Amino acid sequence: MDYKDFGLVNTKDIFSDAISKHYAVPAFNFYNMETLSAIVSAARDTKSPVILAVSESALEYMGSNLLMGMIWGLNIKPSEKIALHLDHGGSFESCVNAIKLGFSSVMIDASKKPFNTNVNLSRQVADFAQQFDVSVEAELGTLSGIEDENTNSKDSNYTDPNDVVNFVNATNIDSLAIAIGTSHGAYKRKSDKEELRFDILEKISQELPEFPLVLHGASSIPKKFVNMINEYGGRISDARGIPAEQLKRAVKMNICKINVDSDSRLAFTAGTRKSLFTEPENFNPREFLTSGMKNIYENCVEEIKNIMNSENKI
Ligand code: G3H
Ligand code: 13P
Ligand code: ZN
Repeated sequence: MDYKDFGLVNTKDIFSDAISKHYAVPAFNFYNMETLSAIVSAARDTKSPVILAVSESALEYMGSNLLMGMIWGLNIKPSEKIALHLDHGGSFESCVNAIKLGFSSVMIDASKKPFNTNVNLSRQVADFAQQFDVSVEAELGTLSGIEDENTNSKDSNYTDPNDVVNFVNATNIDSLAIAIGTSHGAYKRKSDKEELRFDILEKISQELPEFPLVLHGASSIPKKFVNMINEYGGRISDARGIPAEQLKRAVKMNICKINVDSDSRLAFTAGTRKSLFTEPENFNPREFLTSGMKNIYENCVEEIKNIMNSENKI
């Protein structure tokens, strides 16, 4: 189906608005009705554009019919600026499948392949997507961290600013994910002193002025959720994210899409754990799921207002 039939938009206009007004569009991952509903409510209530991100494993978990049925059920209007995005697409076929389902944006992640293979694969996806007016993100450099098989990399390899212009010109992509020290998951840094490589980001934005840059692995890992999880029987130690101040600085330097998944996972887990622990007699899942959902909603609202600066941009 055509994504326009779902009221979705691609990311091209959203990104040019984000660049001109110095904000970042949040890309929040979802994987069920609760996460989707919390994220969309937060975006609607704050009048923020939003990118609904679906990993390959989340797509498999929901099943494509249920997923697209839920998107249909949101009754989206194009004026709301909501995009549906394949996160870390691992192959051409995976991107084609998402585009045919009605996704308005796809990421082809060939960042761990040799440069030329990354160029060729990204170009192939961009050429295909162009026919459907779907936007394409690709990545140069690799993030460290462990999420799923497409994001599983032990070593971080920062993006080389000397490569970015060639890569963008050769691939015809619409946005570029870069590696400047973020990583996937809840254990991003060994100490609070570690800083993102703003020197690399500065060089990249000089090479690609006005071009949409993307930050993956950008969860801030709010301490309150980590503490709540531990207080109610969980065991999460030494979790550390990217401080909001550093993310805000990145937004001022052309980062116009910020990917957040782990924060929502923590928020949801904290809410459901607390509810189950404090109401041991309850066995109605709607009650503890609502607590998880409420935490995601509040965290998305908070990040939209205080990190992304995307509130009231519709
Ligand atoms: O960047 C990757 C996302 O956090 C997705 O992870 O494949 O476990 O859904 P997932
Ligand atoms: P986090 O693990 O920091 O939330 O990163 C999410 C992400 O990059 C999704 O693509
Ligand atoms: Zn990612």
